[in-house]
Amino acid sequence: MKGKTIFIVALCIFGFLAVTCFGQKKTNPYINPGQLWPDTQGNHVQAHGGGIIKIKDTYYWYGEERAQNLDTNKRYVSCYSSTDLINWSFKGDVVQMTDPENLGPKWILERPKVYYNKKSRQYVMYFHLDDKKYKVAKVGIAVCDKPDGEFKYLKSFRPLDHESRDIGQFIDDDGTAYLVFEDRPLGFHIAKLADDYLSLEKEMCLIPEHMEGGAIVHYQGLYYAIGSALTGWRANPNKYATAKSLAGPWSAFKDIAPPETNTYGSQSTMILKVVGEKSTTVIFMGDIWRPAAQWDSRYLWMPLELGNGNLKLPAPKPWTLDIKSGQWHYLYNN
Ligand code: GAL
Repeated sequence: MKGKTIFIVALCIFGFLAVTCFGQKKTNPYINPGQLWPDTQGNHVQAHGGGIIKIKDTYYWYGEERAQNLDTNKRYVSCYSSTDLINWSFKGDVVQMTDPENLGPKWILERPKVYYNKKSRQYVMYFHLDDKKYKVAKVGIAVCDKPDGEFKYLKSFRPLDHESRDIGQFIDDDGTAYLVFEDRPLGFHIAKLADDYLSLEKEMCLIPEHMEGGAIVHYQGLYYAIGSALTGWRANPNKYATAKSLAGPWSAFKDIAPPETNTYGSQSTMILKVVGEKSTTVIFMGDIWRPAAQWDSRYLWMPLELGNGNLKLPAPKPWTLDIKSGQWHYLYNN
């Protein structure tokens, strides 16, 4: 009888702990560049080569879903949401697509970027669409009426009739949306999206440099553009240039970090500006690719040091951000 009572009490305690501990959403107090990044379920975030948009107070992070054991005929784009940029909750794979243009086995869907079109109230996703040899060089478009619903494939094309492989997304302070894309014969294009975002309206600039992972930010009256060299999954020294207008002229390109670090093992995918009540933090978002184990690829997010035409990516260290004030600080002082 005594033993039975102890057993029941132990069971109740275990049950209570299970409900209070396991049932709770996990929270991360900080961003730890290069380490596993657990989402609110405790799984490593799968949003590689990604992009972020902010809708009201919520950020949505879209990226390449590269978890293990997925259907190898399909390509997946994941969606996560967050209100602090640190804790991300998995909303599902908003794209689960089977080869939409008959490009053959090992077809490519990379670097998804989502824009919200206020007029059509549609979420418009651009992505790099290609065959296994990267010879098709097009963008694909999929749309949805919700940020985290199922995106429907619409079409593919070469932007302004140019080859397009890596793409990047830039939304200016006035809300104008741009696509940046890498064109092997010519260089790095910055192009304005058409009114409905379903095509490109015009080219703003062609920078005659070969840059992948293109990313742009508008900060204190200057545009800063970052890109990487063309070394596939291997990291290289990413570089930046500045201009007073997107149309240029653009300055010469300079290293964003000591070149021997190869951008601390990462490749740019986006620059995110967080404007808070007290301060503005500009975040470099990069991927640390692990080509032999892509599901284990990591992220390198660090606040950039920038101003007066200079930009520096500091050595990665754990840091945290207060989204309301816009202020960030390192977790440790050294
Ligand atoms: C990188 C590019 C990636 C992927 C990879 C394939 O240069 O940034 O998105 O296309 O090459 O080798």
